[in-house]
Amino acid sequence: MSALKILVIPGSLRTGSLNAKLAAVAAHELARAGADVTRISLTDFALPIYDGDLQAKSGVPKNAVNLKRMIGAHHGVLIVTPEYNSSVPALVKNTIDWVSRVQDPHESRGQVFRDRVFAIAAASGNRLGGTRALAALRLILAACHATVIPNQLALSFAEHAYDDMDHLKHQADIDAMQALVRQLIDFSQRIM
Ligand SMILES: Cc1cc2nc3c(=O)[nH]c(=O)nc-3n(C[C@H](O)[C@H](O)[C@H](O)COP(=O)(O)O)c2cc1C
Repeated sequence: MSALKILVIPGSLRTGSLNAKLAAVAAHELARAGADVTRISLTDFALPIYDGDLQAKSGVPKNAVNLKRMIGAHHGVLIVTPEYNSSVPALVKNTIDWVSRVQDPHESRGQVFRDRVFAIAAASGNRLGGTRALAALRLILAACHATVIPNQLALSFAEHAYDDMDHLKHQADIDAMQALVRQLIDFSQRIM
């Protein structure tokens, strides 16, 4: 049987991003658990702010089509999002909005969300760890009819959560990451 394929998407472009670090930790854990992991940066899928006039005039941008197909080539997807003003950053919402507009031949629009499993994680500098962004992201993905696994990871006080090697240093965070990874793999295997 071919390997379980998992795509990891950090929701920040920032150099030194705490969420990109968490995405790297997750990718490492997923690979250790036997998954075939792809970790991307949304810098490689730059998109304009969604505008219906733009879509009507020029169609869905190639980067949205490419990202949709990249998602479609995986069984599971982990999105690691920052929290901005108690919600997801525009980058994350805008990316999902564009991907949800892609319609490939022989597929209904948005099918890419319905046919696979999603997991969500966040890192932030405060005690809540991006919990409100996770609630918002869960709602957005539910609106796309995605299956979002029950486990999630909110990394609190994230500036102090990593060691010099960018590994998680607190056992509770390591345990939460391992539980997330196990459940993502478990749910994704069911749709292989
Ligand atoms: C516009 C803006 C709004 C923010 N709002 C929140 C917030 O509501 N909750 C929170 O925990 N952190 C908030 N932050 C701080 C981010 O969590 C912090 O900058 C984090 O490091 C961003 O993620 P990154 O390191 O992956 O880029 C905000 C940051 C910015 C720039």
